[in-house]
Amino acid sequence: MQLRRFLFCTASALTWLRGHAKLVTVPTTPFTETGGAYDLSKLTDIIVDSRYANEVDHDGQTLIPPTLSQFAETFREDLKTSLGLDLHLAGGRKRRANTIFVTLGNSTSFQDAAGRWTSEGYDLRVDDHGIIVTGASPLGAWWATRSILQAAVTGDSVLAKGTGADAPGWGTRGVFLDAGRHFYPADFLVEMCSYLSFFKQNTFHIHLSDNLNNNVEEYSRERSLELYAAFRLWSEDPAVAGLNRRANESYTREQFDFVQTQCAKRGVTIIPEIETPGHALVIVQWKPELGLEDLSMLNLSHPETLPTVKTIWKTFLPWFHSKVVHIGADEYNSSLVGDYTNFVNDMNTFIIHETGGSKSMRIWGTFTPKEGANVSKSVSYQHWANYDDHPYWDYIQNGYNVLNSDNYLYLVGGWSASYPQELELSRIFQGPYGSGYSPVIMDSDSIGDNPPRNNKHVLGQVAALWNDYGPNSTTVLQAYYSWRNALPALADKQWGGNVTEEEYHSVFDALHAAVPAQNLDRSIPSQSDTILHYTFDHSSWTVTDHSGNGYHGRVHGCKIADKSLHLAHGCYLETPLGSKGRDYTLSFRVKPTSQTPGTLFAGPDSTFMNGNGTISNVTLVSGGNPYSLNYSLPLNTWTDVSLVAEGNTTRLTVGQEETMEFLTKIGDYGEYFEWAPIAVEAPLTRVGEGFTGLMQNIVLKGSAS
Ligand SMILES: *[C@@H]1O[C@H](CO)[C@@H](O)[C@H](O)[C@H]1NC(C)=O
Ligand SMILES: *[C@@H]1O[C@H](CO)[C@@H](O)[C@H](O)[C@H]1NC(C)=O
Ligand SMILES: *[C@@H]1O[C@H](CO)[C@@H](O)[C@H](O)[C@H]1NC(C)=O
Ligand SMILES: *[C@@H]1O[C@H](CO)[C@@H](O)[C@H](O)[C@H]1NC(C)=O
Ligand SMILES: *[C@@H]1O[C@H](CO)[C@@H](O)[C@H](O)[C@H]1NC(C)=O
Ligand SMILES: *[C@@H]1O[C@H](CO)[C@@H](O)[C@H](O)[C@H]1NC(C)=O
Ligand SMILES: *[C@@H]1O[C@H](CO)[C@@H](O)[C@H](O)[C@H]1NC(C)=O
Ligand SMILES: *[C@@H]1O[C@H](CO)[C@@H](O)[C@H](O)[C@H]1NC(C)=O
Ligand SMILES: *[C@@H]1O[C@H](CO)[C@@H](O)[C@H](O)[C@H]1NC(C)=O
Ligand SMILES: *[C@@H]1O[C@H](CO)[C@@H](O)[C@H](O)[C@H]1NC(C)=O
Ligand SMILES: *[C@@H]1O[C@H](CO)[C@@H](O)[C@H](O)[C@H]1NC(C)=O
Repeated sequence: MQLRRFLFCTASALTWLRGHAKLVTVPTTPFTETGGAYDLSKLTDIIVDSRYANEVDHDGQTLIPPTLSQFAETFREDLKTSLGLDLHLAGGRKRRANTIFVTLGNSTSFQDAAGRWTSEGYDLRVDDHGIIVTGASPLGAWWATRSILQAAVTGDSVLAKGTGADAPGWGTRGVFLDAGRHFYPADFLVEMCSYLSFFKQNTFHIHLSDNLNNNVEEYSRERSLELYAAFRLWSEDPAVAGLNRRANESYTREQFDFVQTQCAKRGVTIIPEIETPGHALVIVQWKPELGLEDLSMLNLSHPETLPTVKTIWKTFLPWFHSKVVHIGADEYNSSLVGDYTNFVNDMNTFIIHETGGSKSMRIWGTFTPKEGANVSKSVSYQHWANYDDHPYWDYIQNGYNVLNSDNYLYLVGGWSASYPQELELSRIFQGPYGSGYSPVIMDSDSIGDNPPRNNKHVLGQVAALWNDYGPNSTTVLQAYYSWRNALPALADKQWGGNVTEEEYHSVFDALHAAVPAQNLDRSIPSQSDTILHYTFDHSSWTVTDHSGNGYHGRVHGCKIADKSLHLAHGCYLETPLGSKGRDYTLSFRVKPTSQTPGTLFAGPDSTFMNGNGTISNVTLVSGGNPYSLNYSLPLNTWTDVSLVAEGNTTRLTVGQEETMEFLTKIGDYGEYFEWAPIAVEAPLTRVGEGFTGLMQNIVLKGSAS
């Protein structure tokens, strides 16, 4: 009997036995067991308390909060995809046996780190009859559903009976993404929100305009005016005609609405940022008369500058559904603090007035009150670097609210002389002072320069990923990989949880595999390591997949003969697959019979090209950026080719010969270059379109070889 019980211990059951008053979820969930367990397979319904079905949370960061029943419906979908539990959603005044009853209530335990009531708190109760979720608000109830899903995943759908009351220590928890210097499609942002939300993060700050460093010492005015600079919102309003010249790398109002509503559906608020008066080259490229000598900075003394910035905000404020918007305001000329302060205060008054007080404004920490920046107290600061400010002394002691984005946790995509490319678990679990990271650690050099944990001016923490080196330094999904393994651990610290590194490693893989409503790994279900295998044995419109997965292909106009796919005149083979993420091996035999460039493989995230019309080099394209090898496929010769992704490297092996790595050449100040790995998903949707030649034996494996 003793032995039997021992054998039944799963990872999470072990932690119950250890007697910790918590569930090892991420973030951890305070929970006191009462003995025994409830098997979720007995559940039949989710019942939403009809008294509160249409309630919304007014205290969160979004102006489009879902109702309690909308959150419950999303939870119902997640139970199905993450656990295979198909429950019926109903309304009712009372709980019934074997249901999850979702209601609202109030408790003195719903307190943040400063001891204030928070609408994000919840109570969780598991007993003989099922589960009761009592949210402080619909948003609080939503976070409870994340605990249930996670505990069910690690506990094989069996939950310990008991009760817990939980609330986040801080109200702003999440990430920042530099979409100004690198475009990210709307679908990617939505998938990221699903990821953040699973770990109870509620904030996705998107930087919507920026430019590459315009090296003032070296660049001519003309060169600066042509430098990569982008504004990501696309409006047909004549007032901003010419501001955005990248229609294909922008969000229309519909797309931006889609992102905001999909994210809000999972409790995540998009905080938009439009940068001024520094990092504003895109505005100066539109109106060159508004630039200072350093063209990335707006001349605030020019009579047209403030009206121009106001016009931009007037156009886009109605697009935004967050209570806070961000005007950037970092890295401006320090001899112009007075102009800067007037600008910030003017913009603050303008935004409050335009939105009838429904929105407030945030800026980056740059100039401090003692440097002369007397900014309105209604503006919140987002601290990022100790060399610009000491947030505890400069802002908090002066009564400002501060969001922590200290560069201790900064990331820069692709390469950087100063910052890592991936979040580091050691920084999260040890922190600068050995006891782990926390949102109140704003100064990682001097412990005494940080506010106490219960300081009411600390809004929370947001970890930043910058793209200083522009659009070609990384692929879209590399942003996700910068966060993938360690962001959930940081989410625990942002919430105020206490998951240990050991516990984290014990649950991460299972939790990660269960994150609903996204496939950022671009994984493909497969019975074995071989995901797809086409041998072209028969002449038919259908190409049989011999992997056992049934991913049969369909030929559009090509001939199949001699175990070969004959590609010519734009014919192609279509597969039911999209992309395969890390790791993979895509191998095939190929014989080009013409110099004409063509596509070997194309998919939603990338294209694998044999030449591009100017050069014959084998090239991967992702996000519109080409990554070429110093290699071309030989004409009229069969070559065995393998495209291999291993971690963040992508390589090509031809024949028995050497392996070549796809690299990106990263431009630093336009004067220095660094070669860095580029991680490209395997493109799988169409094979051979525009290519002229033969292909044989296409095999996709889920591992690097
Ligand atoms: C972690 O948090 C839980 C619940 O708040 C608490 O019971 C437990 O003692 C904490 N563990 C540690 C190691 O601090
Ligand atoms: C819950 O109680 C706190 C005080 O304990 C109060 O501030 C808060 O407004 C109450 N919330 C609701 C939804 O009743
Ligand atoms: C900024 O604008 C003012 C007013 O038009 C002008 O006098 C000044 O020369 C401009 N500064 C620069 C650096 O162009
Ligand atoms: C900052 O502005 C001052 C005064 O206009 C000017 O002399 C200086 O060159 C500017 N500094 C930079 C880095 O642009
Ligand atoms: C800062 O601005 C406020 C509000 O405009 C004003 O009352 C205060 O005197 C200013 N402080 C300084 C030091 O200029
Ligand atoms: C590539 O992966 C390694 C190992 O995880 C990591 O140290 C490095 O920072 C990554 N580089 C990029 C460009 O992502
Ligand atoms: C092909 O690639 C080269 C090198 O990246 C580039 O200069 C050229 O413009 C490209 N040609 C086409 C037609 O895309
Ligand atoms: C968008 O269009 C520009 C100009 O044609 C091109 O350089 C860029 O690569 C395109 N971007 C994408 C993501 O296709
Ligand atoms: C191509 O060759 C150049 C010169 O040898 C080298 O610097 C570069 O790294 C190579 N490019 C790739 C993608 O391997
Ligand atoms: C194409 O390959 C040749 C060597 O085969 C190399 O010299 C050239 O730099 C490559 N072009 C690009 C854009 O990488
Ligand atoms: C990436 O862009 C930089 C300009 O920022 C350019 O110098 C570099 O050649 C590009 N790299 C590749 C691989 O095209």
